[in-house]
Amino acid sequence: MPHDELLRLALNTAVTAGALAHRRRTEGVEVADHKSSPVDVVTLADRETENLIRSLLADARPDDGFLGEEGGAEAGSSGLTWVVDPIDGTVNYLYGIPHWAVSIAVVEGDPDPLTWRALAGCVTNPVAGEIYTATDAGGAFSGNQQLRVAEPASLAQSLIGTGFSYDSQTRAKQGAVVAELLPLVRDIRRFGTASLDLCAVATGRLNGYFETGLKPWDHAAAALVAREAGAAVVGLGGAPASDAFILAAPPELLSVLERELSKLVM
Ligand code: IPD
Repeated sequence: MPHDELLRLALNTAVTAGALAHRRRTEGVEVADHKSSPVDVVTLADRETENLIRSLLADARPDDGFLGEEGGAEAGSSGLTWVVDPIDGTVNYLYGIPHWAVSIAVVEGDPDPLTWRALAGCVTNPVAGEIYTATDAGGAFSGNQQLRVAEPASLAQSLIGTGFSYDSQTRAKQGAVVAELLPLVRDIRRFGTASLDLCAVATGRLNGYFETGLKPWDHAAAALVAREAGAAVVGLGGAPASDAFILAAPPELLSVLERELSKLVM
């Protein structure tokens, strides 16, 4: 199936799923469970939205695999896997902060960020009505508008996004990294939705973004959007971006940020 058709499926599914999650938010949110820590919650809407996405994708592409935040992995036979975060920014969603996303990517190869090739991805912010899409080598778009990263800026003039783990010990280390970086940059933003942070690099709302400890579904679609908008998206020490570390920025800034962060992270 051509990448454009995979993207159309991702987009239609993300819009339908976003409408469901948005409707459920207005009806009131119920925490269904806790995951890695007491502040890492899953809502009934997360589960319902993922189930909807899973069934829409399975109807259209029954041979593909699926990797979702809430329901786990299911292998397919086509060589393609859908990597899905039904509600990225769950804590924002829980608190009614209108900055959360549905993220759907389709990747080729094992569903492992170190080796996969992302073919198409869609990230939506249903409350803001923003939709970001990208296909491999086909560019990144918001609606009809092609996305481009910000003009080159020095580190001192750069607005940098990041995020924090749900684990308090990891968070203490992440806070120490931010404390070291803060005097070197224009400012730091922690918006609470990793996929939208990466899309913000694609639109130039952020100059750069980094985070340790993301999960594949947090970055699968949005890393493709950032890359196709002209960002370099890397891991540490020349490794591909992965759950361990992801850094996205225009290439000129990336090398400077990478140098600073490699001294601080890990
Ligand atoms: C979280 C958000 C957050 C990031 C965390 C993620 P979730 O995803 O993307 O911005 O800092 O690392 O776990 O749990 O809301 O899907």
